[in-house]
Amino acid sequence: MGLYINYLLIMALLNISTILGHNVCPSSQCGNVSVHYPFNLEHETPSASIKCTYFNLICNKTSGTTIFHLPPAGHFYVQKINYTQQYIQLYDPRNCLTKRLFDLSLPVPSPFKTNYENYTLYVCPPDLAMGSILCLSNSTNITVVASGSFKDDNKCEPTHYRLLPVHEDNAFSLTWDSNGCANCDDHDSGGWGAKIIGKIVTVALTLPGLIIMSLSCCSLFCFHLLRLMRGRNVVEAEAAEVHLPSSTTGLDESKIVGCTELVIVSEGEQGCKSKMCSICLEAYSEKEKVSVISKCGHCFHANCVHQWLGKNATCPVCRTSLL
Ligand SMILES: *[C@@H]1O[C@H](CO)[C@@H](O)[C@H](O)[C@H]1NC(C)=O
Ligand SMILES: *[C@@H]1O[C@H](CO)[C@@H](O)[C@H](O)[C@H]1NC(C)=O
Ligand SMILES: *[C@@H]1O[C@H](CO)[C@@H](O)[C@H](O)[C@H]1NC(C)=O
Ligand SMILES: *[C@@H]1O[C@H](CO)[C@@H](O)[C@H](O)[C@H]1NC(C)=O
Ligand SMILES: *[C@@H]1O[C@H](CO)[C@@H](O)[C@H](O)[C@H]1NC(C)=O
Ligand SMILES: *[C@@H]1O[C@H](CO)[C@@H](O)[C@H](O)[C@H]1NC(C)=O
Repeated sequence: MGLYINYLLIMALLNISTILGHNVCPSSQCGNVSVHYPFNLEHETPSASIKCTYFNLICNKTSGTTIFHLPPAGHFYVQKINYTQQYIQLYDPRNCLTKRLFDLSLPVPSPFKTNYENYTLYVCPPDLAMGSILCLSNSTNITVVASGSFKDDNKCEPTHYRLLPVHEDNAFSLTWDSNGCANCDDHDSGGWGAKIIGKIVTVALTLPGLIIMSLSCCSLFCFHLLRLMRGRNVVEAEAAEVHLPSSTTGLDESKIVGCTELVIVSEGEQGCKSKMCSICLEAYSEKEKVSVISKCGHCFHANCVHQWLGKNATCPVCRTSLL
């Protein structure tokens, strides 16, 4: 219950911050990609008060894909954007990234950077099973790309050397290195005004949540306490019940000692199945010495069971007669 309320609370906070962010700094969602500074969706212009450089992403709402246009290479699809680490991961929808990267040239100066590596393209006979670039291969020759040295039995011929952005699994990353935008550093806090409002809203939302949470914790605790007390009453009532009609059925001290043995809770040969004494309802500590009724193997605090057996000749748990 506490967890559920917490969840609702977080969802509410997220929603509010998105709305707040939206008013000041654009923040939107396209498919599974969340878009905010330094990106924005085409047609969603930030308010005029924000003098920040944004990069347009195109959202195809039908397919839920986010597209980044990088002339002259063209459209790349966005796999993910990590705003903490400041990188955008792009892939080629036609699964021909290597070829596409031949045409990628980031403008100088560019806010985006990528790591380059010296790649070699090889043309190989078609029976080579290694990762080939399908879009550059045909039935007579397949093309393989490799960075560094490509170990092969010389059946492949290198055809191109090229510095290309480091890519793997049809995806590559661009990092950006902006020192932020004065009033748009943090997509969900927005400008100064929004920050204040955000704080007020946060407090307003958190406070009742905290109260509800502590109430639910409290009631849980009370419930537990009640159960514990009821358990104690039952035992006491039972003790009274048994005690009333037959006050003489208790065992004397020597018999009590005779029908119980002392063991350490966790080490007794039979061990104690229960982790707490059913008479006083208190948990045992791990190395505690307790009394086991030899006949049925139930454990209790020595004091508790001695008091009980002084008045009753049965095991308090299973009622086995000890006479
Ligand atoms: C959006 O995606 C759908 C499905 O992939 C495609 O048919 C459509 O042409 C795309 N629209 C644009 C504007 O790219
Ligand atoms: C987002 O969706 C695209 C395909 O639409 C997928 O390739 C990508 O892995 C997804 N990203 C995350 C973080 O789920
Ligand atoms: C961004 O990267 C960091 C570190 O690798 C990671 O902890 C975080 O979850 C990532 N964020 C997203 C939205 O993928
Ligand atoms: C890439 O590596 C090849 C072979 O090692 C070399 O001949 C070529 O000059 C390198 N190209 C660049 C741009 O470093
Ligand atoms: C197959 O690809 C090789 C290397 O790219 C090219 O030289 C050759 O002409 C192509 N053959 C056909 C039939 O397209
Ligand atoms: C394509 O394959 C044929 C036959 O395997 C070969 O003779 C030719 O040299 C290959 N073309 C290239 C560009 O390697």
